[in-house]
Amino acid sequence: MSVKSCCIYSTGVISILTLIAGIVLVLSQVFQNIVNAKIKKEIVLRNGTHAFDVWENPPPPVYMQFYFFNVTNPAEVLKGERPAVLEVGPYTYREFRPMERVNFLENGTKVSAVNTKTYVFQSDMSKGPESDLIRTVNIPAMTVMEKFKDTSFIANIISSYMKSVNEDLFTTQTVGELLWGYKDGLLKALKVVDPTLDDVFGLFYKQNATDDGEYVFLTGQQSYKDFAVIDQWKGQNSLNWWTTDECNMINGTNGASFHPIITKNETLYMFSSDLCRSIYAIYEEESSVMGVPGYRFSPPSKVFANTTENAGFCSPPGNCLGSGVLQVSACKQDAPIVMSSPHFYQADEKFVKDIFGMKPNKEQHETIIDINPVCKLNRNINLMPAPYHNPTATMGHSVHNVDIGKPLTHTSVICPYS
Ligand SMILES: *[C@@H]1O[C@H](CO)[C@@H](O)[C@H](O)[C@H]1NC(C)=O
Ligand SMILES: *[C@@H]1O[C@H](CO)[C@@H](O)[C@H](O)[C@H]1NC(C)=O
Ligand SMILES: *[C@@H]1O[C@H](CO)[C@@H](O)[C@H](O)[C@H]1NC(C)=O
Ligand SMILES: *[C@@H]1O[C@H](CO)[C@@H](O)[C@H](O)[C@H]1NC(C)=O
Ligand SMILES: *[C@@H]1O[C@H](CO)[C@@H](O)[C@H](O)[C@H]1NC(C)=O
Ligand SMILES: *[C@@H]1O[C@H](CO)[C@@H](O)[C@H](O)[C@H]1NC(C)=O
Ligand SMILES: *[C@@H]1O[C@H](CO)[C@@H](O)[C@H](O)[C@H]1NC(C)=O
Repeated sequence: MSVKSCCIYSTGVISILTLIAGIVLVLSQVFQNIVNAKIKKEIVLRNGTHAFDVWENPPPPVYMQFYFFNVTNPAEVLKGERPAVLEVGPYTYREFRPMERVNFLENGTKVSAVNTKTYVFQSDMSKGPESDLIRTVNIPAMTVMEKFKDTSFIANIISSYMKSVNEDLFTTQTVGELLWGYKDGLLKALKVVDPTLDDVFGLFYKQNATDDGEYVFLTGQQSYKDFAVIDQWKGQNSLNWWTTDECNMINGTNGASFHPIITKNETLYMFSSDLCRSIYAIYEEESSVMGVPGYRFSPPSKVFANTTENAGFCSPPGNCLGSGVLQVSACKQDAPIVMSSPHFYQADEKFVKDIFGMKPNKEQHETIIDINPVCKLNRNINLMPAPYHNPTATMGHSVHNVDIGKPLTHTSVICPYS
């Protein structure tokens, strides 16, 4: 590949960029709620309470399922045709996510903690082993081409390297490598020029058994509405990636817990470091999870729409990609990563058309949060760890290779006082 064609690729690739990696957000977990004024006082993150135990060590298993898009026509794409993909999956991991290094602060009104997430592969719940091959976009190559497109010296190294190893914009790796990391030849070659480069790439590289930084949560002691609301993340009350104060706000909880006594007219805010922003969900309909009645909340299309409120998420400013996609380069080391819902659900039609094989639909691709507002269970079926295949919670996934977004979650119903 010559330098010129390299640059043509990096611009011609815009449609592929939107295919790039997505992330998961497990927004689920039914939260308990009891119509009882007492609850407002008792649901507090305080050592010794049931709410604290559940928050610290969520009991029901949570599963994360990954779906990948296998590119079937790489040669045609390089000639300018639209990519065609086949969805493969799920590849399922059980997720452990305890709160660690828990410290109560300011008289019990706040609590600091890190949320360590560990993923363990579940072959019985997966379509194949982690060694299954996936042909997908070569993200390291695209990232460095984008980064060095104006530095001809490095662009030269890139193009001669790619030529010498006969590599192109697609790469075939195993599921395990794509998720947890593999040594990339091009990154290794560039490391000679820039020793700070990490030559390993993976969508979830370094995310197993690690945390995303320290949080400070409100405990709910002062108001039940503050229960588990994030006060600070990494020592800051807000983000700095986006261009308006509203977009930089850290709103709500981490999506795993919500305050008790949820009403239908509420807006539930939550922040996800994977998604690089706060989002919100509103009431959609009544639902039933394993026979337990609940309220289903989901993010309306407005959350990711091309609107004036969201203009601060466009980077560079004024350069909006359209509805339903979020450019997260600013918080992912400048990698050209754009996130979307699975299959570009709720995104502009142009994205869906750009890739053959996208079939967005509400049932499979919507992000939902089922909340049990009024706990009517009796004590012996309080906590139910029975396996439940639940498309609840989900979001963000997407992408070019990973169709995340369908985390399989165990839904917990916590009814300490029923
Ligand atoms: C909660 O209490 C137990 C027993 O008193 C103690 O071992 C533990 O360290 C306490 N946890 C926190 C976060 O203060
Ligand atoms: C902590 O709570 C105690 C008892 O409620 C109160 O006397 C004290 O002033 C509080 N301290 C702070 C720093 O708020
Ligand atoms: C994640 O780390 C745990 C413990 O360190 C290990 O058992 C597990 O296999 C790792 N998962 C993956 C996907 O590498
Ligand atoms: C994905 O496509 C590649 C290349 O055609 C093929 O080798 C691989 O088996 C496919 N993966 C799955 C899981 O079907
Ligand atoms: C955060 O919440 C405030 C209202 O409390 C809202 O104006 C702002 O747009 C929200 N920001 C995000 C990113 O959700
Ligand atoms: C929401 O509904 C509850 C009753 O269901 C009512 O008490 C409350 O005032 C309403 N809040 C808003 C903001 O409309
Ligand atoms: C986003 O909205 C703005 C203002 O309405 C409009 O000018 C722009 O064309 C839209 N961008 C896309 C990609 O749809």
